[in-house]
Amino acid sequence: MAILVTGGLGYIGSHTVVELLQNDFEVVIVDDLSNSERFILENIEKVSGKKPTFYPFDLKRRELIKQLLDAHYIEGCINFAAFKAVGESQEKPLDYYENNLFTLVNLLQEFKERNISNFIFSSSCTVYGQADQQPIDENTPLKLPESSYGKTKQMGEEILKDFAIAHAKRVSLLRYFNPIGAHPTALLGELPIGIPNNLVPFVTQTAAGIREKLNIWGNDYPTEDGTAVRDYIYVVDLAKAHVKALQKLMNTKEETKIDMYNLGTGKGSSVLEVVHAFESANQIKVPYQICDRRAGDITIAYANPEKAEKELGWKAETTLQEALKSTWKWQKYLETRK
Ligand code: UD1
Repeated sequence: MAILVTGGLGYIGSHTVVELLQNDFEVVIVDDLSNSERFILENIEKVSGKKPTFYPFDLKRRELIKQLLDAHYIEGCINFAAFKAVGESQEKPLDYYENNLFTLVNLLQEFKERNISNFIFSSSCTVYGQADQQPIDENTPLKLPESSYGKTKQMGEEILKDFAIAHAKRVSLLRYFNPIGAHPTALLGELPIGIPNNLVPFVTQTAAGIREKLNIWGNDYPTEDGTAVRDYIYVVDLAKAHVKALQKLMNTKEETKIDMYNLGTGKGSSVLEVVHAFESANQIKVPYQICDRRAGDITIAYANPEKAEKELGWKAETTLQEALKSTWKWQKYLETRK
């Protein structure tokens, strides 16, 4: 019996595969390598001492999903495979809908046929937009996201709810806040492709001298230091939450189940706080300049993670500084690979 992890060589996927292997799950990975590299598979093996099965294909190929499901007894699925660049999604919305939603429907069609349940979906706090209240709990009303990327997350959730109800399945929707950091071994982390959009990869590359300076998008927000506030969650903590959410689905007696959890630390940090925490954790300067606000950015978003703590027995344990230390170690590792 195995767990299918789509996008299992990606940033959050690879960390989650390691946690699954360390918890004695057998793992089958599907990843089309569109945003990863093969050495990540080798590094997963180095970190865990175990070998997951790997299929390099695109989940739009439904016949290949069929073949995989004929070859393995799949007990559950964690679905990470998706495009995730907000800006790009505005330029290529159809690519986002096709890649993020067709693949999801393909998987679910096959699971429905074969009576496979226990589906974990990578969602995002972007489904809440600029919430009227902080912290954000699971009852906070959803708002239509501005980006097509965000819409694929909201639509993905709706598809899964319908699937669970119509076909008596168990699903868990995990809404991540801002994932950061790398594995403590420095063998796994986020692979940079082009100029990073997200804050922490940009900070890291600036410290490494790859970027001249960090642009801080706005210091006139109604926050303590004027910069926007987010909830930065360490990727290994986040990966552990997936294992807990999966175990909960697998242990429940109910045939139909729709869980949803906000996965964050419960603590908001401003952009300047992140920059300064990075500097003090790694004893290195990050040159920056203040710029105008970035279009579409919200002012503040942080989680109320109590539901996950109560129902999954999970909470974030790693400090911002520790997470930022691991990011820097990973950057150094990437430099040795050049
Ligand atoms: C973004 C996406 C969100 C997605 C998440 C994935 C938007 C509007 N939202 O969230 O949908 O789920 O990434 O991780 O794009 N910042 C700078 N300078 C930079 C980069 C970022 O000042 O070079 C600031 C941003 O303005 C923001 C904060 O840092 O205030 C965090 O930005 P980012 O890492 O891009 O995440 P989000 O915008 O929260």
